[in-house]
Amino acid sequence: MFTLALVLPLFVGTFGQTPTRCCYSHKFDGVLMETGGSLSLGSTTPSIADATIAISYDFDEKVLWLNSSQLNTTSGAWESMIILRRYKESTEYIVKNGQCYSVRIDHPITPPCVPDGLDYGGTFLFGSGDSALKVNNWRGNNNGTTVSINVQASDCTPVSESIYGIVGTENSVTSYIFANLKPSLSHPARMQRPAICAHAIQLQAVGKRGLEEMVEHIDSALVPFFL
Ligand SMILES: *[C@@H]1O[C@H](CO)[C@@H](O)[C@H](O)[C@H]1NC(C)=O
Ligand SMILES: *[C@@H]1O[C@H](CO)[C@@H](O)[C@H](O)[C@H]1NC(C)=O
Ligand SMILES: *[C@@H]1O[C@H](CO)[C@@H](O)[C@H](O)[C@H]1NC(C)=O
Repeated sequence: MFTLALVLPLFVGTFGQTPTRCCYSHKFDGVLMETGGSLSLGSTTPSIADATIAISYDFDEKVLWLNSSQLNTTSGAWESMIILRRYKESTEYIVKNGQCYSVRIDHPITPPCVPDGLDYGGTFLFGSGDSALKVNNWRGNNNGTTVSINVQASDCTPVSESIYGIVGTENSVTSYIFANLKPSLSHPARMQRPAICAHAIQLQAVGKRGLEEMVEHIDSALVPFFL
């Protein structure tokens, strides 16, 4: 009887507590594996997103670097482009096929945190045995989309994320696996504007729709958490 009374509160203390919304490192390198599909409102032809995206993120300096290798589902070829967002200058640079484009951005960088609107959805183990990874799930609505995020329980390292709902003018479903995360920047030089971008072509001015759409896709798909 005595033992039970002592053990019970301990058990509740360890497993019954709701974790607090957490933030990951302000600087990190990693890889995002993205798969998803979207359908423009009124259209019946979905577009598929299948991309592996190397990422470097610096919340303190407000810079995001992405190297997106995306499958072109028409040609079957992998196409890569570099996206560099320098939020303090409200400018995004896109380097594709040896050409640099720039586009104005007007939203702030998203902090590396579980968004306020999400609710705790439980704690789970990924894998099994001694090397299993303990994750906390957070889910709910974020600006009209439904989001589910898993972060490592010990230090808030993002593990996976899925988002569905209406993003801009598209119905979309996207999921991400976060891989190879490291809470520091190994390539600080890539966060600087590349020389080729000194005379960037302004996307709005020329209206390069294809590129602009790809960038918008990356923008909207990555909005809810981290990016
Ligand atoms: C971007 O990724 C592609 C595909 O992995 C790679 O070939 C290319 O070298 C990368 N570019 C940079 C600047 O890291
Ligand atoms: C995909 O490949 C097709 C055929 O090569 C090309 O016309 C199209 O512009 C490419 N799409 C993108 C988004 O680059
Ligand atoms: C919220 O969604 C609307 C419509 O999709 C979009 O215009 C706006 O930029 C989004 N806001 C944020 C903070 O993501």
